[in-house]
Parts: sequence; structure tokens; C-alpha cells
Amino acid sequence: MRDTRVLKATTENFEIAKREILNGEVVAIPTETVYGLAANAFDETAVSKIFEAKGRPQDNPLIVHIADMEMLREVVSEVSETAEKLAKKFWGGPLTMILPKNERVPYAVTAGLETVGVRMPAHLAAREFIRYCGVPLAAPSANVSGKPSPTSAAHVFHDLRGKIDYILDGGTCEVGVESTVVKVMDDQVEILRPGKITINDLLQAVSAVTIDDGVFTRVMDDKPVASPGMKYQHYSPNANVIMVEGSLTDFCQYVSRSADEKTAVLVFEGEESLFDIPCFTFGKRNDSVSQASRLFDVLREIDQHEDIQTVFARVPKQEGVGLAVYNRLLRACGFEVVNMDRAVIVGLTGQTGAGKSMICEILRQDGAIGIVDCDVVSRDVIMMPSVQQRLVEYFGGEILLEDGNVNRKALGKRIFANEEDRIFLNSVMFPPITEQINKEVRQLRDQGYRIIVLDAPTLFESGANIICDSIVSVLADANLRQERIMERDSMSAVEAQNRMNAQKDDEFYRSRSEFIIENNGSQTELKEQVDRITAAMKEKINGN
Ligand code: TXA
Ligand code: MG
Repeated sequence: MRDTRVLKATTENFEIAKREILNGEVVAIPTETVYGLAANAFDETAVSKIFEAKGRPQDNPLIVHIADMEMLREVVSEVSETAEKLAKKFWGGPLTMILPKNERVPYAVTAGLETVGVRMPAHLAAREFIRYCGVPLAAPSANVSGKPSPTSAAHVFHDLRGKIDYILDGGTCEVGVESTVVKVMDDQVEILRPGKITINDLLQAVSAVTIDDGVFTRVMDDKPVASPGMKYQHYSPNANVIMVEGSLTDFCQYVSRSADEKTAVLVFEGEESLFDIPCFTFGKRNDSVSQASRLFDVLREIDQHEDIQTVFARVPKQEGVGLAVYNRLLRACGFEVVNMDRAVIVGLTGQTGAGKSMICEILRQDGAIGIVDCDVVSRDVIMMPSVQQRLVEYFGGEILLEDGNVNRKALGKRIFANEEDRIFLNSVMFPPITEQINKEVRQLRDQGYRIIVLDAPTLFESGANIICDSIVSVLADANLRQERIMERDSMSAVEAQNRMNAQKDDEFYRSRSEFIIENNGSQTELKEQVDRITAAMKEKINGN
């Protein structure tokens, strides 16, 4: 057991901590987001001590913290224009960029990856200390792996007491959730982990921002992931946390129905008086910044009440920094969310000819289900003048009909035969398609539909899968599909086969769907499968 000491972040104490770092040891340091557990990023043995102290899985890479732009060049092999632009705008600050590493950074830091996450903190003491050490510092959050990240020196002490020698105390962390992690590509970025720097902030520096799937959905253990950190159970208190989505009234109803003597609630400030069971708060309802700064602290506080077994939590707004709060809470509750008023959005997809339309016909007979026909949406989008113009520039005038509209059949032939053309078409079509789908979903929800199905042949390719709560794929044997396509679209066997070749295989759908419908049998069998899935959706809504 080590004697863990908490030192104020003063110049005198920097000297002690620096010696520790240059001796190949680890030191906990404050940053504006959360506390980090730091070691010399160039010292492989020192870095391994971080993993040991935290009990961190070896395949989860660390973030390298730098004091200035010169230090950036000591750890990466190249700084693209976009990276430069982002650094200028957001550093020092809570943004981590994934960039190509150079040979000085050991693979122990990057968990074997050729890229390294780099961030220049805004916290003055943190930056000064890094500069004082003279080396970049590899540092993950200074919590025991799986627990909420520490936002005070006391949190670090609680988790790492006896495992490290020094904690530099720089006060409570202002932001409260970890940095925004982005992968930088040409003129675009992809958010791997949301944080204080929001999508809108980023859009002021780059032309497009996408969000990695792992931000909203559980990443399966055996899948390769963009950000390995997202795959681990995280931030979880000992109690079982469940988010309950709906109005405050819905929330109260659910709590009074489901609470027992071991239940607590996690609500917004000012809502406490509505409950006569233990109550915790995380910030103000319309103030995501206050929620971010409180979340980890309150999750740790809940841990001190051993008698609490279940916590029902309010759902934060997913806008701005709220997206980060939601993302962390989603992990704290192991993705367990009860829906009280929101519609369940179901993506229905599958191979062409497998029978999506037949399923939609069955669904239409259920008055509670609203359907968005994404094919119709894409037909509307292709009529938009701005879209037509870009298509003609690329494909030439021959894709137009005499009346000036796009000849969908001619276009279809070209893209099914050529992958590059298909990618181009998608890049033009999908942003306006997604926008339109979102609009129709909102309309159906306002009309009172509680289950909304997206009938979407290209659900995954369009990124519309992100807004789905559940995904259903329909599959059928190849010979059946070929027959159906030939009949439906009056195609030759070769044309039908071409179309089928452009589709993803069974495995693609199986690995991405919650439900699979196998449509190789009778109408009755099909209906049975659909009914089972509809029943499961209704259960989701009622939170059973
Ligand atoms: O605010 C923060 O970022 C805090 C403070 C201490 O700076 N640090 C932090 O580190 O949260 P950590 O290790 O808890 O989270 C690092 C995240 C993980 O999700 C990890 O998978 C991801 O960044 N990451 C690091 N390097 C990566 C890489 N080369 N490629 C993809 N993801 C990477
Ligand atoms: Mg962490």
C-alpha cells in the first residue's frame, strides 16, 4: 500500500510531482473536464502503471495531454489543415483529436493503434504542469475503471488511495464530463464521444460533423469499434439506474407504480418535492451545462447509500452539451431506458425482394402504427432542383427524361452496376432524405402514433438507423427474392441478379438487427412473426 498524498497544485508541489513523473511514476492531475491519471507519454513502463492502477483493459487507448503546439509535433506524424484549424479554435479546451501517431509514442499508449488521441487542456495548472515536466502526459480519467470519472481530488482519493503516491488538487472540475473526442478526416470530423465542445461548435470550423453509432448504442464485445472506450460498461454506480423518458407527470406516475423501499430518483433541481423517496439531483432541467458539472458527483454520492438498489432517472435533453450528459447516463444505466411518451421508432429494412412491402401491409392494419415510406421520401428528394443539378453535373444529361426529371430507371441501372457511382449518389441524396424522414416522424408522433416504422431499404447506408430504437430486417432465400423482383419490377433474371449483388449479405443484417424476419414460408407464418415483433414494441412503450 502506498501512502497517497493530496497536494495543492502550486509551483512548489509541481517540483515534487515532476520528479515523480520523470522517475516513471504516475500522478493524478486536475483538468477542466475530469481528473486525469498522468504518466510520461514516452515512457512505456510508466504508462503501464496507469493501466495497473485503474484496472483498465489493455485495449483502451489513452489520451496524450500537451502544453503547446510544439509538443503536438512531438507526438503526431502529421497535422492536417483541419486539425490545425480545430486546434486554433478549441485548444486549450475540452477537445481530443485522434491523429496519426509518430514513432516516439509507444503502442502501450495507443493500445496498438496507429493513431493517438491528443488534447491541450484549458486548465491553467494542468497546462503549466505539463510544460513544467517538459514531456507530454498520457492520462485517462483518474477513476477505477468502470466507475464515474472523478471531478474532484476527493473522488480520485476515494478510488486510487493506496495505489498512487500523489494527487495534485486543482479544485472541482468546471466542465464535469470528459472531452469531446473526434476523429479528424479531410474537412470533416466524426464524434466518437460527445462533450463540452458541441456539434454546433465544431460546425464553425469544419464542413460536416457525423456522430459514431457507439454514442447512442451498445457496442458489442466482439466488434471492432471506432473508440474502444465506448464499449465498456461505464460510470455505473452499484445501484441499477434506469432512465425514464417522458413528461414529469409520466415520470411521477412510473415511479409511484414501480418504486419500492430500495428505490431512489435522480431528477432535476426543483423537482424534489414531488417525491417521498430518496431524491438526488443533477443540475437544472433546461441547463445542460449544470447537468454535466453535477452528473458524476451525484452518481458517486448515490454509491454511498448502500441500501439503494434502483434509481429512476430523468432523461436530459440531448442538445448541445446535453448530448454528452445523455451519453454518459445511457452508459451508467447500461442502456436501460423506459419510454413513457415517446414513440418507438422501428427501422424496417432487408434485401430487395425479401418482402418488406408485405410486412408493411400487415403493419398498416394496426391502427397504432405509423409508417414512413422512405422510398417515397427519396423520390421526392430526387425531384429537388439542387439535387438534380448535382446529379447532372456528375452523371451527365442522359440521366434526365424529356420532361426534365431524373430517369430513375436509367440512374438505377448505372448505380447498381458501379459502386463508386452508388457512393456518390448516396452522398448527395442522404442528407436531405434524413431531414425529411425526421420531419415525417415528428408529424406522425404529433398525430399520436406510438410506434413509427421506417420502411427503409437503405436504412444503414443512410445513417437513419441512428434514430431507430429497434431494427427489424427481413431476409429470404435468394431464389425466392429473384423471382419476386423479376415479377414486381418486370426484370430479366440477370437484371434481378445484378440488383441482388449490390445488396449486403444476410450476416450484415443479422449482426445489426434486434429482430430478423425470415420470409420463406406462408403469409400466415409471416404474420405470426410480425405480430410477435409488434407485441414486443408495445411492451417497450409501456415499459414492461
Ligand atoms: O476529458 C478527458 O478527455 C479526460 C481528461 C483526463 O483529459 N480524459 C479521458 O480519458 O476521458 P479516458 O481514457 O477516460 O478516455 C479516452 C477516450 C476513450 O474512450 C478512448 O477509447 C478514446 O478516448 N481514444 C483514445 N485514443 C484513441 C484512438 N487512438 N482512437 C480512438 N479512440 C481513442
Ligand atoms: Mg475514462
